[in-house]
Amino acid sequence: MNTQFPGPELWQRTVGDIAATLPGATAVLRNYKIDFCCNGDLTLDSAAHRRGVDRGELERALAALGTPDGASAVPTAMSNDVLIGHIQACYHEAHRRALQELIALSRKVEAVHHEHPKVPAGLSEALRQLQRDLEPHMAKEEAILFPAMLQWTEGKFDIPISELRHEHDDQGISLRRLECLTDNFTTPEGACRSWQALYVGTAQFAEDLIKHIHLENNVLFPRFAAAEIRT
Ligand SMILES: [Fe+2]
Ligand SMILES: [Fe+2]
Repeated sequence: MNTQFPGPELWQRTVGDIAATLPGATAVLRNYKIDFCCNGDLTLDSAAHRRGVDRGELERALAALGTPDGASAVPTAMSNDVLIGHIQACYHEAHRRALQELIALSRKVEAVHHEHPKVPAGLSEALRQLQRDLEPHMAKEEAILFPAMLQWTEGKFDIPISELRHEHDDQGISLRRLECLTDNFTTPEGACRSWQALYVGTAQFAEDLIKHIHLENNVLFPRFAAAEIRT
């Protein structure tokens, strides 16, 4: 391991940059509840302070990941077309499948366990609302944004990315609601298999959506930011 890493400069780097360039950092940041997607512009120093994180502990966790050597597999090293293909295949399609399944499962759990004090009342509707918000957002990216990015060469980029960033912020708020409804994805003692599967699946979906937003906000969109027409 490179003994120069992480080093004092780590604390002045943005969490979005750390998440984008250091393989495995997303899991560490998520573990410490540091938001690297919607608040990716904060320095690690500010983000850790905001969360009241033990700095020594966080630094050791990031150092244990090693250095960002051999970055060919990380998204920052991907070309635009490869990155966009990766986002569509690994996130857009995965979200569509996951939400359909989770909505059905949550309806079942809410109905069967409606008298249980820990039943996640309202989870199916929260997931359904997220599906209603996410589908047109992803469709807009697929039909308008991504094709424009793939065709862009130079000059102004005439798609207002800021609107999509605002929608990402709203998606982040919806995820907080899922965490709230599920007691941070913690099943009560004796929960049935469906209930356990629901929380495992919802936690995975939340993790995937955070990574998805991060890739767009902190890796893909900045490539076009300088040329973007702002609204
Ligand atoms: Fe997307
Ligand atoms: Fe998006």
